[in-house]
Formats: sequence, structure tokens, C-alpha cells
Amino acid sequence: MSVENKVAIVTGGASGIGFHYALELLQNGLRAVTLADTDAAKGEEAVAKISNDFGADKVLFVKTDVTVKDQLANAFKQTVEKFGNLDIVINNAGVMVEAIWEKMININLNGTIYSCILAMEEYFPKYKSGDEAVIVNISSTVGLQAVPILPFYSATKHAIIGLSTSLGTPQNYATTKTRIVTICPGPTDTPLLQDLENKAFNERYRALTGAFLKFVGDAGKPQTIDFVPKCMMKAIQEGSNGSIWVVENGEIYEIAPADRKDMKK
Ligand SMILES: NC(=O)c1ccc[n+]([C@@H]2O[C@H](COP(=O)([O-])OP(=O)(O)OC[C@H]3O[C@@H](n4cnc5c(N)ncnc54)[C@H](O)[C@@H]3O)[C@@H](O)[C@H]2O)c1
Repeated sequence: MSVENKVAIVTGGASGIGFHYALELLQNGLRAVTLADTDAAKGEEAVAKISNDFGADKVLFVKTDVTVKDQLANAFKQTVEKFGNLDIVINNAGVMVEAIWEKMININLNGTIYSCILAMEEYFPKYKSGDEAVIVNISSTVGLQAVPILPFYSATKHAIIGLSTSLGTPQNYATTKTRIVTICPGPTDTPLLQDLENKAFNERYRALTGAFLKFVGDAGKPQTIDFVPKCMMKAIQEGSNGSIWVVENGEIYEIAPADRKDMKK
């Protein structure tokens, strides 16, 4: 699928990796993007930058907390009111704060689920401009492995894999014409990874922070943001329905989740 002339929503798109997904889509010919994010100040900055680089008619910021259903629905509504179509949804909004695990589950998982529902059941059927629409869900390499310091965050990212592979099945595609792809960035240099000690659940986990930093550091340090959006583009352009893509340390690769029978000990 080409993103040329398509319309996208990026949740959590005002800053961090999400903002760079928006830039990458626009660089590849996207017609317009909505940034749905809680942070109005960052949203304004993002709109100014995109307007300057691509044109003011290319971007809309909608102040949105993805955990508040009306607000998320409003971001979808405003998108089609302004741009007339909706073809791509990038479910990127996320936090990594173990101490607020219930809120984190609401943002990382429930926000993504409701966004998938809005896209597949309501908006894509009426507003996609081509034959097919795409959802990109954002998991993480910690959605694919055990992470002692971040069990609750890791759980949300494992759940995204289950959600995406179940939605991304031929049975669902047949009736929705929506392709679901998932990307799993490795540790990436954004505010999400800062101040880790205060994001741990309690003292016991805090003591493990050093070990986590070692885990972050396959390459000694987290990757920079710039390469991650290339994975999102590759998954949109080439990824089959239900496919899962990892991006870490300058490498993009697709993974094939094992059948449980192959996992038998
Ligand atoms: N940085 C990493 O190492 C890394 C690795 C793998 C996956 N991820 C995932 O990538 C996504 C983006 O992370 P990031 O590193 O850019 O983080 P970030 O903290 O830099 O940016 C997150 C963005 O989401 C927004 N946001 C937070 N809560 C929100 C809510 N309730 N509703 C709407 N917007 C909200 C923030 O305002 C911010 O603009 C997250 O889902 C994260 O879990 C990050």
C-alpha cells in the first residue's frame, strides 16, 4: 500500500516517536495527518513544524486522552470532518510507569483497543479512500520477552501482540478490509526511557534498574528515534495482515510467532 494521498491519525503524535511517524508519512506523500495527544503545548509545536515544512492544510491537532472514549471518538470525527477520509491509524500513545499500572493499561491497551474498534467498525468502512485501510499498533521488544523491572508495561505490550494478531486474521480482513500490522521498537531515546528509577513500581523493582539499563544496552545505549519510522513505513507498504516487525539498532526484521506446538518442550 502506498500512503500517497491517504489520511492518517497518529495517537500520541505530538512528540516522541509518534511525531516522527507523522513526519515520515508526510514525507512519503500522505495527504494529511491528525495528531491526537494529551499535550496541547507539544501539539502546537508539532503543528507549527508540520505547517512550515509541508503546509498548514496537512495537519490537525486534537487534544485527546486515548483513555477517554468521547475524546478519542472526537479525534476520529474531527479528522473526517476536516480531511474527508481516514485510511491509516497509528496507535502509538503509550506510557511506561509501573506505579500507575491501571492507568498505564488504560492508555497502552484499552486506548488501542477502542481506537481499533472506532477504525474498523465505524470509520474505515465509511471513509477509507482506497480498497484497504491499515492499523499500525505499537508494541515493543519488551512485548516479546520477559523484563524483570517492567512486568506491567511488558504485559501491555504482550497484549498488543495478541490483539493485533487476532484482529489481523483473514476472517476479520474479509469483512473489514483492514490490514493490521504491529511494530516492536527496541529501546529508543525518548522521554519514555528517562527517569527510570522513579517509574519503577517500588523499591524492590528500583533495585533492578541497573540491570534494565544493561538490557537496554545491547548496543550500549538506546537507538535514536530517526530509524524507527522506517519500520512503520515498511510494515504499511509491505507487511502482510497480522505481521509483526522489530526495529532495533539500525535493523528492521519481521518475526513469525511460533505455533504453540513448536514451542512444546
Ligand atoms: N521509547 C522506547 O524505548 C520505546 C520502545 C518500544 C516501544 N515504545 C512505544 O512507542 C510509543 C511512543 O513512545 P515514545 O518513546 O515516543 O514516548 P514519549 O513519552 O516520548 O511520547 C509519548 C506521547 O504520547 C502522548 N500520550 C501519553 N499519554 C497519552 C494519552 N493518554 N492519550 C494521548 N496521548 C498520550 C504523550 O503526550 C507523548 O506525546 C509508546 O507506545 C511506547 O510504549 C517506546
